[in-house]
Amino acid sequence: MRRMGILEQYHSFLPVTPNTPRLSLHEGNTPLVHLERLSETWGVELYAKMEGFNPTGSFKDRGMVMAVAKAVEAGSRTVICASTGNTSASAAAYAARLGIRAVVVVPDGRIALGKLSQAVVYGAEVLAIEGNFDQALTIVRRIAAESSEVTLVNSVNPYRIEGQKTAAFEVCEQLGGPPDVLAIPVGNAGNITAYWKGFREYFDSGRIGALPQMHGFQAEGAAAIVRGEPIAEPETVATAIRIGNPASWKTAVEAAKESGGAIDAVSDEEILEAYRDLTRMEGLFVEPASAASLAGVKKARQQGRIAAGTKVVAVLTGNGLKDPSTAMEAVPVKPVRLPNDWEAVEEAIRKPRGA
Ligand code: F0G
Repeated sequence: MRRMGILEQYHSFLPVTPNTPRLSLHEGNTPLVHLERLSETWGVELYAKMEGFNPTGSFKDRGMVMAVAKAVEAGSRTVICASTGNTSASAAAYAARLGIRAVVVVPDGRIALGKLSQAVVYGAEVLAIEGNFDQALTIVRRIAAESSEVTLVNSVNPYRIEGQKTAAFEVCEQLGGPPDVLAIPVGNAGNITAYWKGFREYFDSGRIGALPQMHGFQAEGAAAIVRGEPIAEPETVATAIRIGNPASWKTAVEAAKESGGAIDAVSDEEILEAYRDLTRMEGLFVEPASAASLAGVKKARQQGRIAAGTKVVAVLTGNGLKDPSTAMEAVPVKPVRLPNDWEAVEEAIRKPRGA
């Protein structure tokens, strides 16, 4: 099947007009992978929606292609966003594709190296503030509100949600119907909002006959929704979801409530354990924030909140190469340094690993 990105593939569900630029970097159409070993270990039928396969390595591309296309359609020549990294990489790429300006505001020193390098190399203007994501978002919202020439492309821009809902469509097509449970990391809470909108639209159009339960997972040190109040200084190894006051808080809670699901928290330890399980048992490398959904599935199974045999899709939001530093810290086994010598190498592989 010929697929040309989500604007073409799903135009009938999207606000695409004859004047919308035909923008695409071949986002969407990401694999849904059956996790056979983890399914067996955890007693569920588990699939991973591999959003790291998108052109800039995260799910943000689905929303960004729509938001940047609509910005240009409306005559804007500058997009701006706050970001923990992935949004900035994606905004920078799509802005470059259409030859417009991208300004990204990030928390200084707190975004993964891969993401920062993407924003820089795509040619965005990168402003690193002495503050966190929530503070950066406050700043860019104000700038966009005060200038009609600058378009805000964070997920408070409704076109971002429109684009991102297409992942729910794909899940239903790939699975031949909706899953019982959709497990998803929650940061600024745009993506859980988008999936729920997508599932409901497919349900309303008669394409699916049931709706999944939405299970969102925040990192414990940044679990504002779970605690019921904003967190001034959020902290987690999963820097992508280090957010203390999610902009789409209300719609995330609605998604969980209406679907009979929940928003819960997972610890950094649980996140890193799921991160290692996924790479070693399934050969799939995602970034730490993505592993929050898997950690959540494991925890919910142990607590009996997800029943045995449940068909679960975990959204794995970003590619593991985004955050090489955490990868090197997360595993005890390091590369073995040896002289340039045949015998030394032979000797090293004769010994079992770690001995
Ligand atoms: N996973 C990854 C890899 C992310 O980058 C993000 C958000 C999320 C999950 C959470 O999604 O915000 O829609 O609830 N990253 C944003 C950014 C905040 O700036 O790149 P959400």
